[in-house]
Amino acid sequence: MTQTILEIKHLKKSFGANHVLKDISLTVQKGEVISIIGSSGSGKSTFLRSINLLEEPTGGEILFHGQNVLEKGYDLTTYREKLGMVFQSFNLFENLNVLENAIVAQTTVLKRSRSEAEAIAKENLNKVGMTEQYWTAKPKQLSGGQKQRVAIARALSVNPEAMLFDEPTSALDPEMVGEVLKTMKALAETGLTMLIVTHEMEFAKEVSDRVIFMDQGVIAEQGTPQEIFENPKEERTKTFLQRFLK
Ligand SMILES: Nc1ncnc2c1ncn2[C@@H]1O[C@H](COP(=O)(O)OP(=O)(O)OP(=O)(O)O)[C@@H](O)[C@H]1O
Ligand SMILES: [Mg+2]
Repeated sequence: MTQTILEIKHLKKSFGANHVLKDISLTVQKGEVISIIGSSGSGKSTFLRSINLLEEPTGGEILFHGQNVLEKGYDLTTYREKLGMVFQSFNLFENLNVLENAIVAQTTVLKRSRSEAEAIAKENLNKVGMTEQYWTAKPKQLSGGQKQRVAIARALSVNPEAMLFDEPTSALDPEMVGEVLKTMKALAETGLTMLIVTHEMEFAKEVSDRVIFMDQGVIAEQGTPQEIFENPKEERTKTFLQRFLK
């Protein structure tokens, strides 16, 4: 049985006169892995940031388990906790070590006990391959790929219902990209619901249930990886893909 987690209806976001998102609708089922592709400036980041309300939408609805989170009185703190976010730039707490990075939100926001939070942090760090020898390291002592895996473990540690990734590998040296994609692929296989903005087309093809192609603030085309990558219907999808899949 499918279960709808998120229902985005006619979402709009403008910055002044710049209409960045123009009527985007998307339904996300539990366990779905959705990749979002598209040119620079097409609105991919703004879309993710609007979903978890890092940006305030200028129109439309976001239903989380059927309830409109934009309605007055909705518990936004809980909603935000339920959507883990991983950024291109890691955004780790530089003054905290690896383990503390994965603990802090659990004890402060979720009010978990120190021992419970520590156990959960360790489990998630192990899951992403950041094993015990790294736990006392500070972010600056880690490679980009390691930092990103800590960021993923940190996000997982608050038990999100869905994870949003905004180009998690595009700031990495090429040799680090694989380890992060492998981690994400393993997560996808656990049934985690994931929305991933990416330029890694091979990865998107491999892990996604659905691929969304965004162009100029709209979903220009969507479908299975096979439909989008092997048989795109829209001219603009074809043009975009030609630049990547030579
Ligand atoms: N905080 C902001 N204030 C004003 N304009 C913004 C803001 N954030 C994004 N924009 C504008 O929104 C448009 C879409 O930007 P967005 O970052 O969502 O694109 P993107 O598809 O993620 O691109 P990229 O692939 O380069 O990351 C751009 O024209 C950008 O200048
Ligand atoms: Mg972006």
